[in-house]
Amino acid sequence: MGALRVELRSVYVAYQDIERPALKNASLFVGENRVVVITGPNGAGKTTLLETCLGLLKPFKGVAKLLGVLTTSRKLHDVRKLCSYLPQNFMRGPYESYTAKQVIAMGLLSLRNTPSTLTASDVNKIRSIAKLLNIESLLNEPIGKLSGGQQQRVFLARALVREPLVLFLDEPFSSIDPEGRRSVVELLNSYTRERNATTLIVSHIVDSELMRMANAVVFMSNGEVVRIEGAPH
Ligand SMILES: Nc1ncnc2c1ncn2[C@@H]1O[C@H](COP(=O)(O)OP(=O)(O)OP(=O)(O)O)[C@@H](O)[C@H]1O
Ligand SMILES: [Mg+2]
Repeated sequence: MGALRVELRSVYVAYQDIERPALKNASLFVGENRVVVITGPNGAGKTTLLETCLGLLKPFKGVAKLLGVLTTSRKLHDVRKLCSYLPQNFMRGPYESYTAKQVIAMGLLSLRNTPSTLTASDVNKIRSIAKLLNIESLLNEPIGKLSGGQQQRVFLARALVREPLVLFLDEPFSSIDPEGRRSVVELLNSYTRERNATTLIVSHIVDSELMRMANAVVFMSNGEVVRIEGAPH
């Protein structure tokens, strides 16, 4: 078994009231070269689980580790740079004036310790990921003027351009049409396999394409991991 990228050991997480935690006794171990799909109804705790893996939420009981580092540790900051997170509510308002290219560039520039500008190699990376996501012609458009599905592709590009070791995607296909969804699924699959990366995808819909790519499916309900099918590590 390879190194664990994500480790949740009997984790409890609460937003306010620990009598009714949003995550109860959740355990999940995810290794390298894995695609894991997390599914379940609204309010099941899927986003909470993802943000706990990332250390954005801290457990009040149990242990959470990202790339072997406790999410309560000061070293979390360093391992986060090896990860990308595409949150569920990504839509930008119509007056957001950053261009698609600037949004994708943030994925790279946020990794640097000092303010910097794009290098030629950065520009090449942005171009090639934009090409893969079929948004090359939109790079100079203001993000707020793009459709929901186009914006979603831009934010996927921002997540991928960092070349993350661990990729966390919360409902990444919600606005993408069926054909686009197929090509994005294929892109995520080949990215994960070629880089030996780890991809966690929250999705309401677990269709046959997602099933074909997934090593494991995690079923959540009422703040609990109720079942895991497959081999997440
Ligand atoms: N910021 C918050 N403050 C308080 N409670 C929250 C907050 N975010 C989520 N919750 C609660 O935690 C529980 C799990 O929410 P979560 O967002 O993880 O569900 P989800 O499975 O991602 O749902 P969805 O499919 O609608 O995205 C819900 O009962 C929700 O009301
Ligand atoms: Mg959610």
